Order: sequence, then structure tokens, then C-alpha cells
Amino acid sequence: MRLTPDGVSDYSGLAGIYLSLLLKHLLAFGQFDSADRRVLDFGCGTGKLAKTCKSACVIGFDIIPELTQVEKWQNQDFDTVVCHHVLYALTPNEILNFCDELQEYTNQRESSILLVTAHSRQSWLNKFGMALLQRPDAHKKTKVQWEQIDDIVSKQFSKVSSKNFFGLSQSISYEVRPN
Ligand SMILES: C[S@@+](CC[C@H](N)C(=O)[O-])C[C@H]1O[C@@H](n2cnc3c(N)ncnc32)[C@H](O)[C@@H]1O
Repeated sequence: MRLTPDGVSDYSGLAGIYLSLLLKHLLAFGQFDSADRRVLDFGCGTGKLAKTCKSACVIGFDIIPELTQVEKWQNQDFDTVVCHHVLYALTPNEILNFCDELQEYTNQRESSILLVTAHSRQSWLNKFGMALLQRPDAHKKTKVQWEQIDDIVSKQFSKVSSKNFFGLSQSISYEVRPN
């Protein structure tokens, strides 16, 4: 396994196959991979979502300067935000701030955006997978569990859909409406 700056895995080998399956599931779930969509990949890591999308224009933002395509996501033009296995690394307050910023962005835009999230369920099956993929530290940066993330986000935005991917990952989408 190769590591990018700050220890973000580039998901080669078996872990890469697992990530591809997760992302294919995410595309089927979120239905945002079309030519008329502009997607902000918040916490883009090594940019696998952009490589998986066939049609949508994907803008990658990451807190790690070596990985991000843009310095500020707030001044980009997008109608969809994807947070794929990212929000677990934020504190509840940081998630709330992120929601506030998304709300402000949507207000300025004056039309709704779609927020698509996915989280590791951190189940026994995930732990088994971590041992199999030799990634014992995969959950090390966890600050909140997926249920708490959903609790925070669904108080701000309207939930559209939620799907459990084989007990491993939970995908949840929300509509952010201008107010
Ligand atoms: C587990 S990786 C997932 C990467 C990518 N979304 C994927 O599924 O392949 C989590 C990513 O979130 C980024 N991240 C963590 N906190 C962040 C924040 N506050 N703002 C933006 N990116 C953040 C990390 O730098 C890392 O690249």
C-alpha cells in the first residue's frame, strides 16, 4: 500500500478494488454522474471519484494541499456535493460549520443542491475487512460515528434517501434548499 502526504492511502491492490466497488455503489445510489452535473468532491483524497465518474464534471477539494484541486470550495460552481468517507474525520462542531457553509452557498445560489454522503459503518465486517486488507489504522481518525453524522446533517437538511451497502458503508443523500 502506498501512502500520499499525511498518510492518506492511495488504495492500491485489494483496497483499490474495494474502493472501486464503494464508488460504483455511490454513483448508482446518488445518480449524479451526468453531463449536466457539477460535483464538488469534498475530501477528495487521491481523486478516485473523478476517475470513476464518466460524465459529471468533478471538482476535488481536500484539506491536504497536495491533494486538492482548488484552494477554496466555496467559490466553485457546483450543484452536488459528495463526502465519501470524509465526515467521520470532523468533529460534530466542524460538521455543523460545514452544513452552515453549505446552507450559505445554497442561499447565494438560490437553488437546491444535492449532498451525497457515505460512511463506513465501522461494523465487525469492516473490522474483518481491515484485517484482510492490512489496514489496521483505517478508522484511527474517527471523531464521530455515522449515526451521529446523520443525526447532525438531517437536522439541517431534508433526507432524500439512505442505503446500506452490504453492512459495510452507509450512503445517505440530502437536499439542501435555499432559505
Ligand atoms: C478516507 S479519505 C477518503 C478520500 C476520498 N473521498 C475517497 O473516498 O477515496 C478522507 C479524506 O478526507 C480528507 N479530509 C479530512 N478532513 C477534511 C476537511 N476538514 N476538509 C476537507 N477534507 C478533509 C482527508 O485529507 C482525506 O483525503
